Amino acid sequence: MKPAQILLYCRPGFEKECAQEVTAAAVEMGVEGFVKARPESGFAVFHAHQDAMGVEFGDHLEFSRLVFPRQLVRTGELLSGLPEADRVTPIVKAAKALGTRFAALWIETPDTNDGKALASLIKPLTPHLEKGLRKAGVVFDDGEAEDRLHVFFVGGLACYVGVSRVGNSSTWPMGIPRLRMPSSAPSRSALKLSEAMLEFTAGRQFEPGLTAVDLGASPGGWTWQLVQRGFMVTAVDNGPMDARLMESGQVKHRRDDGFHYRPPDPVQWMVCDMVESPAKIARLVAKWVAEGWCVETIFNLKLPMKKRYEEVLRCRAIIDEALGGKGYYLRMKQLFHDREEVTAYLARR
Ligand SMILES: C[S@@+](CC[C@H](N)C(=O)[O-])C[C@H]1O[C@@H](n2cnc3c(N)ncnc32)[C@H](O)[C@@H]1O
Repeated sequence: MKPAQILLYCRPGFEKECAQEVTAAAVEMGVEGFVKARPESGFAVFHAHQDAMGVEFGDHLEFSRLVFPRQLVRTGELLSGLPEADRVTPIVKAAKALGTRFAALWIETPDTNDGKALASLIKPLTPHLEKGLRKAGVVFDDGEAEDRLHVFFVGGLACYVGVSRVGNSSTWPMGIPRLRMPSSAPSRSALKLSEAMLEFTAGRQFEPGLTAVDLGASPGGWTWQLVQRGFMVTAVDNGPMDARLMESGQVKHRRDDGFHYRPPDPVQWMVCDMVESPAKIARLVAKWVAEGWCVETIFNLKLPMKKRYEEVLRCRAIIDEALGGKGYYLRMKQLFHDREEVTAYLARR
């Protein structure tokens, strides 16, 4: 039997949003249950009232549709009170109950300060766990296997043992892409667009010379990413652009209001990182796509302190209405490099 609970990792502080989102998905599928999500813990667990329903839910829940969860793991009950002298045996037993061939073994902790301390504490356990699993006949480096094995420690003597589907989960341990900050990028925001491109376009290659507009471009981290990909970029912002970036010859700087700027010709990409109300940004990006001013867009929505999930739904509804309810593709994700924000991708289909 597949495990019946759904374990979701998230940015600490966004457990409630994870809970709201997974509950909404469950309701949509007619699954009844409840979520345990301690504030600032960095994870949430959905329990269906009936195990069979939980299994069915896990089979159909699409990771790519979720905004706040960083990882989607199907798990059994929390293994708590692990014997200090031998944590390996109960974990191996729980793993074997889930299968014997896995694509990988990921030993993880929540993305919190406690989680970081825990990670160093459990590091010495890793070789013992690997050895114990192999001895029990569990293979965890099978490139053909459909599932990964997760051991998610939430305390020194407590962990969840679960699985993620390779094609329906984050491809990064802990759901965190490890990206290096390029030394010549003008701002750390560059990492956000880099992660967004990976997430939404799967690192797609672009023909050199395509055109793009960057609304709210100063000092130029996002523009820098587009320039790296061979784009000719119009950077719209009243603020200054990085001088070295301007020397690339691929950037035109327009000191203009991003809400009034219109491209003289349609462009392939529009990206937008202006600090404004999410609803206003949602209306603007929908207009760009509806008018055919750009083919695709990546934009950031700075969320309010409260009702953040509701704000995401509101922005979706604004875009849906502006585009007549069809003929578009929209994905939103709280990226690792997003703080109180989500990043979204919208394109005509
Ligand atoms: C978060 S910063 C952008 C950082 C940029 N993406 C980068 O990677 O360096 C937001 C920018 O939006 C600009 N901005 C805010 N409102 C704007 C508007 N109405 N029109 C144009 N730019 C705007 C600000 O001047 C600021 O430079």
